[in-house]
Amino acid sequence: MFPPITVPPPLQPIIQAWTVWFTTTFFTIPMATALAIWDLPSALYNLFFGERPKVILITGANSGIGEKLAEEYSKLPGVTLGLLARNKEHLNRVANNCRKRGANVDILVCDITDKEVLNETINDFYDRYPIDLLIANAAQAGVKYDGDEERWEDRGERYIDVNLIGTVNTVMAGFKRMREKKGGQIAITSSILGHYSAPQMIYYNATKYALVSFARDLRYLGAPHDIKVSVIAPGIIDTPMTSDPKQPLKFYSWIFASPRNLAIVTKLQLYANRFEITWPFVEMLPAFAAQSLPPRVTELVTHIIGRVNGFITGVGDEAFT
Ligand SMILES: NC(=O)c1ccc[n+]([C@@H]2O[C@H](COP(=O)([O-])OP(=O)(O)OC[C@H]3O[C@@H](n4cnc5c(N)ncnc54)[C@H](OP(=O)(O)O)[C@@H]3O)[C@@H](O)[C@H]2O)c1
Repeated sequence: MFPPITVPPPLQPIIQAWTVWFTTTFFTIPMATALAIWDLPSALYNLFFGERPKVILITGANSGIGEKLAEEYSKLPGVTLGLLARNKEHLNRVANNCRKRGANVDILVCDITDKEVLNETINDFYDRYPIDLLIANAAQAGVKYDGDEERWEDRGERYIDVNLIGTVNTVMAGFKRMREKKGGQIAITSSILGHYSAPQMIYYNATKYALVSFARDLRYLGAPHDIKVSVIAPGIIDTPMTSDPKQPLKFYSWIFASPRNLAIVTKLQLYANRFEITWPFVEMLPAFAAQSLPPRVTELVTHIIGRVNGFITGVGDEAFT
């Protein structure tokens, strides 16, 4: 019998490095440049003259990024917003702000982990207002491993229920209706942590990694039905999710981390039907670089990036939700 034929493991990082170099030099850079030029006219057309959504459903709309998205979209003429979250009081506050800007607003009090109620809520809203854009944005974060295994696992499982299963159920409820109507747009909020890991936050990261993959595949499935699917991958954004007073985020937020700016960028990028919306883009650069390093070095680099991220945001130090 022959032994299994394979590249000897010590040579694999070298072959990986040359493969990345070859692909980057001869394919990635020329293709990325050509596509940017090719896309420019349609991106500009969509930006200025493209069709705008008339009915938008946003989950996690009573706080942080969801709230700013709601406010940003409420400026569109004749728009109807469905704002979904659990806390009614906070929903009313955001709804009133949006109404002042001229939007018609429905508040939807719902826990996305309750699949039956979630389906009912989305279908009932859809019957009254066929959704053009669904933004599945609700999530929870905050617990790092601190030796309390039981609490860590409890919260971790909760993140999987809300961030992954709840989000997938939200998206699929909308997707099925859009498929009947033959058209629509879906945006799923993942995170930059869907690309590299802050090691103390493995449950949260796992949900965000999974959402990137889910969104990518759904984009293919949606295309024949004229359903556009995008993923929003924010970096560190100044919201209640990251508001630990001990952390120096306030300094950072002056430069990059405004949820309002993220909302504006997201709106424009969704007009252009971009697949992945990353903002602030600068935070993606170490992630791109880390991905092309040999795996052992990537592990170290992502570990360090994760630590820095946890330090800057405070996510991973306390339970915020
Ligand atoms: N802030 C960041 O730095 C950052 C970075 C990357 C990605 N993200 C992602 O961006 C999204 C928004 O986060 P954020 O920073 O704006 O956080 P946030 O201010 O804490 O908002 C989270 C929202 O989700 C809702 N929510 C939580 N659990 C829910 C449930 N079971 N059912 C329905 N709604 C629920 C909350 O409302 P109720 O509590 O009233 O239900 C709230 O509206 C999340 O997907 C988050 O993972 C944030």
